[in-house]
Amino acid sequence: MRKKVTIVGAGNVGATAAHWIASKELANVVLIDVLEGVPQGKALDLLEAMPVEKRDSFVLGTNDYADTANSDIVVITAGIARKPGMSRDDLLNTNFKIMQDVVAKVVANSPNCIMIVVSNPLDAMSQAAYKLSKFNRNRVLGMAGVLDSSRFRTFIAQELNVSVENVTAFVLGGHGDTMVPLPRYSTVAGIPITELIAKDRLDAIVQRTRDGGAEIVKYLKTGSAYYAPSASATEMVEAILKDKKKILPCAVYLQGEYGIKDLFVGVPCKLGAKGLEQIIEIKLTADEQAALQKSADSVAELVKVIGL
Ligand code: NAI
Ligand code: 2OP
Repeated sequence: MRKKVTIVGAGNVGATAAHWIASKELANVVLIDVLEGVPQGKALDLLEAMPVEKRDSFVLGTNDYADTANSDIVVITAGIARKPGMSRDDLLNTNFKIMQDVVAKVVANSPNCIMIVVSNPLDAMSQAAYKLSKFNRNRVLGMAGVLDSSRFRTFIAQELNVSVENVTAFVLGGHGDTMVPLPRYSTVAGIPITELIAKDRLDAIVQRTRDGGAEIVKYLKTGSAYYAPSASATEMVEAILKDKKKILPCAVYLQGEYGIKDLFVGVPCKLGAKGLEQIIEIKLTADEQAALQKSADSVAELVKVIGL
């Protein structure tokens, strides 16, 4: 039987994730939103593209959670997005209220699903989804590291004029200004980038990665990035649905790993049919560990504000 993926929030990220998932024929897709007509219209439009795409994915738009029942994966993109001058953290209180509404309905209708949270501020909203759902930690994942690493990989590939396929990169920590790109663990065809790129250029690339979200907001003015974010969430969906055992950086609930406890922070994870199947602990230098801890501290501050 075909798998079912629900996407909550039919805005830019949600609708584009539906597009990637349907056009890769990964699953049937249900797109749900509080706005009447928007999920229905976007879903029908996408469904009508399937004959051209030669894909048999079914896409349904709805305002009724009954249509989402028994989803295998629920991707949560509901919430407000950044506008120029706003940080991800400015979204905290509004999106927490939305998360309370959404998670209760997701749990009631798809009690066995795996949730992938996209809404910002990402780590705090993932923590909210985890606490509100009472799911085991393997079934609540936050998407940010795949996106941040993809941005890092893009800039490395451009710098060296090589295929993006040659570039692997890791970005750990919270999805915010304190994220921790790790040049030592980033390679081009297996060669560490620290051997290939001069320090000043590398520092600039690391900073551009940290500012990657803001760079797009500045151009768009009315919202934030959505092609790369939705492609990144889709990579996580695919890893789970195909039980790929793929190692991707995801925000997960740490319970002592990397010296961090009871907090969502981005770390390398193995994703398979059970969701989070393993947290990969890599050796960090004292500086890297301190940067990760600083990033975790800023997530902890937000989590404290919403009382979780
Ligand atoms: P958008 O404004 O285009 O779409 C958000 C949608 O959520 C709207 O259609 C809205 O009606 C819907 N919504 C609001 N309350 C809802 C509820 N209770 N139930 C169902 N739907 C509801 O925003 P966009 O660009 O799609 O971004 C969505 C979220 O994802 C934002 O919080 C944004 O900051 C975040 N984001 C996170 C990224 C990450 O790396 N984790 C990357 C990009 C965006
Ligand atoms: C991004 O990094 C806004 O979190 C979003 O593009």
